Formats: sequence, C-alpha cells, structure tokens
Amino acid sequence: MDNQFHLDDTVAVVTGASGTLGPIWVGALLDAGARVFALDLERATVSPGLQSLLDRYSQATHSTGAPRLRLHHADVMDRDSLVVAQAACVGTMGVASVLVNNAGIDQPASTDCAVSYRMEDVPMDVSRAILEVNTLGTFQVSQVFGGEMVKARRGSIINIGSLYASVSPDLRLYDHMNLDPPFLKPPAYGASKAAVVNLTRYLATAWGPYGVRVNTLSPGGVLGAQDPEFQRKFNDRVPLGRMAEAADLTGPLRFLASDASAYVTGTELRVDGGFTAW
Ligand SMILES: NC(=O)c1ccc[n+]([C@@H]2O[C@H](COP(=O)([O-])OP(=O)(O)OC[C@H]3O[C@@H](n4cnc5c(N)ncnc54)[C@H](O)[C@@H]3O)[C@@H](O)[C@H]2O)c1
Repeated sequence: MDNQFHLDDTVAVVTGASGTLGPIWVGALLDAGARVFALDLERATVSPGLQSLLDRYSQATHSTGAPRLRLHHADVMDRDSLVVAQAACVGTMGVASVLVNNAGIDQPASTDCAVSYRMEDVPMDVSRAILEVNTLGTFQVSQVFGGEMVKARRGSIINIGSLYASVSPDLRLYDHMNLDPPFLKPPAYGASKAAVVNLTRYLATAWGPYGVRVNTLSPGGVLGAQDPEFQRKFNDRVPLGRMAEAADLTGPLRFLASDASAYVTGTELRVDGGFTAW
C-alpha cells in the first residue's frame, strides 16, 4: 500500500523553529522525508532540540542535491524579511508546499515569570504584541508562502492553535503559585488563537479551489518545565490523564502535512487529550 504519510517531494517551512515545539514539527517533517526551511528571529536562542537536528541534517542532501535542513532568520511581522526568506527557500530547496505557522507569543505558567497583572491592568502593548504575532503574523506568513502555493496549485498550511482557542484558561491551575497579583494567562492569547481558527477557515475556502489546504492543529498543554503541582492539577483536568509529549504531536502534524489528509481542509484538529471535551 502507498504510504500516504510520506513527504519525500516536499519542501516545508516552519516558523518559530527555535522554540519548544518548533523542533518537534521540524523533526517530524524530516523523519517523513521532507526538506525543511526553518525560520526564527535572529535574536532567538537555538534550542538544544533544534541544534541537534541542525547537527544531524545540515550537511545531508536530498536526491535533488538540495539540503535537508536550513535555519534562516525572519520576523513574521516584517514583510521584507519574509519575502527574502521565501526567495532563499526557493533558491536552496524549491517552492514550499507545506507551511507550519508555529511562531507565537505566550506567557508560560511559571513562578519566575517576570511580570503578572490584574485583569484590569494588563497593558495594551502586551496584548497587542500577542495578537499581532500570533494572528497577524500567521496571516502574513501565509500570504507570502501561500501565494506561491496557490500558483503551484499545491499546498498544506498548518496553523498552530491552542486548547485556549476553544476554552478559557482555568485560573485555579495557577492559584498555588502565590504570586501577587496572581498569575494570569494573557487574555489576548486565547483570543489570538481563536482568531487563528477562523482565519484558517477563511484561507481554506479562498484557496481550496487552488489545491491549497489550510487547517489548525491545536495542542493541549505540552509537558515541559512546569512545576509538579501545576502538572498534577493539569493532569486532573485531562480525560487522558496527562500532558502532551512530543510523540503525541508528530503523527497529527504528518497527517495534516501529507496526502493522508488530502480531503481535509478548514478544520481544527485538537490534540489535547480531551481537555476541551470537558
Ligand atoms: N508549549 C505548549 O504547551 C503549547 C500549547 C499549545 C499551543 N502552543 C503554541 O505552539 C507554538 C509554539 O509554542 P512554544 O511553546 O514552542 O513557544 P516558544 O516560545 O518556545 O517558541 C516560540 C518561537 O516563536 C518565535 N517567535 C516569536 N515571535 C516571532 C516573530 N515575530 N517572528 C518569528 N518568530 C517568532 C520565538 O523566537 C520562539 O522561537 C505557539 O504558537 C504556541 O502558542 C504551545
């Protein structure tokens, strides 16, 4: 049987590649055979996860002679840097037919977070930065790389959403942190991700006739450096009883990127262990 999940003839772009989830998406695409053009800010520290992929794949070449992995600097809010990145992608690897819009801003739940606000005091510039990068950045990168997909009549765009696109953060998850004011997940965060879900629908309907599919992949809470009490409370809220791990995310990403989802567009795939079902 044909392996519908393979990505051998595929160039994939991943934004926010240097962060926590970026290397998971990059690794999943490389494992499926894709060449990956990874994007992040010049000032972003390369995470150990991405560094180990760069060490392993930077010198590797595809049968076409193209490199398997490149890291390029671009800001999703800077159109010129994206246009330069798009040309560099075509020049080194070819036209991208997969785009993972992963770059985003959040305030992770942590007792060492620099600032916390009362709801009434959240500054406009904090909210604006989140809405701009998460929503408008996703749109702008889609414009630049999606336009080429439309011309090529082939593409799959995967916008990374969040469980908080659908539900409000449960503030009780944070009340053990004893911060004053208490930790507040930024209200703009869920709003920005809800907007991504609807932007996904619009792009899917506009570009469907040109063979470009657009979907949202909404992860639940991903296991990281959260404190043990947070993890315990979070796990209690998840029907599957635990936070997401890298292996939970790779299959859904490959599904949406590949022909395995050839008739899927405009949808939101929630990979949250059932968090939003409750
Ligand atoms: N980690 C989780 O538990 C989780 C859960 C649900 C959804 N998400 C979503 O997954 C995505 C990745 O999250 P993460 O945990 O890896 O975050 P992260 O902060 O570790 O990484 C985000 C990356 O985006 C980059 N970035 C920020 N602004 C940018 C800009 N203007 N231009 C280009 N790149 C920019 C950062 O440099 C960083 O490398 C985000 O969209 C986030 O909202 C994360």
